[in-house]
Amino acid sequence: MKDPSGTINFEIGQPSADLLPVDLIRLAADNYLSTAESIELNYGDKQGDPRFRETLAVFLGRAYGEKVTAQSLFVTAGNSQALDFVCTQFTRPGDTIFIEEPTYYLVFQILADHGLNVVGIPVDESGINIDRLETELAKRRPALLYTIPSFHNPSGFTMSAERRKQLVALSQQHGFLIVADEVYHLLSYYGDPPCTLGSFAESGTILSLGSFSKILAPGLRLGWIQGSAGLVERLVDSGVINSGGSFNHLTSNIVRRAIEMGLQERHLERLRDTYHRRVEIMDAALHRHLEDCVSWRRPDGGYYFWLELAESIDATVLRGRAVKRRVSFQPGENFSSCGGLRNYARLSFAYHDDAAIREGVARLGALLQA
Ligand SMILES: Cc1ncc(COP(=O)(O)O)c(C=O)c1O
Repeated sequence: MKDPSGTINFEIGQPSADLLPVDLIRLAADNYLSTAESIELNYGDKQGDPRFRETLAVFLGRAYGEKVTAQSLFVTAGNSQALDFVCTQFTRPGDTIFIEEPTYYLVFQILADHGLNVVGIPVDESGINIDRLETELAKRRPALLYTIPSFHNPSGFTMSAERRKQLVALSQQHGFLIVADEVYHLLSYYGDPPCTLGSFAESGTILSLGSFSKILAPGLRLGWIQGSAGLVERLVDSGVINSGGSFNHLTSNIVRRAIEMGLQERHLERLRDTYHRRVEIMDAALHRHLEDCVSWRRPDGGYYFWLELAESIDATVLRGRAVKRRVSFQPGENFSSCGGLRNYARLSFAYHDDAAIREGVARLGALLQA
């Protein structure tokens, strides 16, 4: 969708319109509905349609390169809903939860909706800082820890295999739940990230959240949670599930057909090719226009570049000036639990085509040089 003012908005963490596959969904929906019996429109199985979970398990097994079973999967309406639901099932108002600093900015409101207290643990290029986590764990036990292990939003960092293991070990030692938001895990452009945290699900302290928003279309509102039998049982044991059955039952069967027809896999390949090219273009444009005034690390996947500006620059103020030059980004403080990260900026390359990425970065460069 073009902004009428001509602003190139790098704030938006969504796919560009050309990557939303209407024809693919039409094909899958026609294929499913042309043979559907009326029973298909009844309430869905509480854990999620078993046929969909079987198909999803095979798809994830192949895509992750890990063993995934249908029994370990619980169907959701995407990761936002899954996060809210996990908070409902596993926390009480007043509980403390640990998050990463920085983290996905829209999670703050979900946590506030549940009356949760938040403690931020810094992340670096190898993921969550384990020393800081241990220091905080010595003071209190959180109800849960929320992490984005692969191609983190906003930093683009990926947690190393070593830290994943350390994190899982700490969750077992201290008895807290890890909620791993693995929404970008399959959007890798330079080789695979380490195994998902979902691959440790059998340890019984992990819920791995996945979604079709980034690999197919956000409007589907479809995702899954992978967990141990005990944790899945606690998810199923909910008033809303008992009353309404599976979240988003009909869509899950349309997407089942999309997977069975090979359409999901093909679409994912297309997304990877397109985003890979956009990463390269944004990286080259940053080198060309901003090399001497910001630092960054080219992300290996996901949607985002995370820029560190000079310490004296307040990115929120800078954004105001940028908008006047018809370019925008998300200031770092939006991703902080304590008003920090003021000299950082997040740029999404998912929403704009090659030419707009080049032009937007050039506008930013002109602003910073000025
Ligand atoms: C880290 C993270 N989690 C969750 C979401 C939202 O996911 P969903 O559309 O599945 O609710 C996003 C979307 O930008 C995200 O970046």
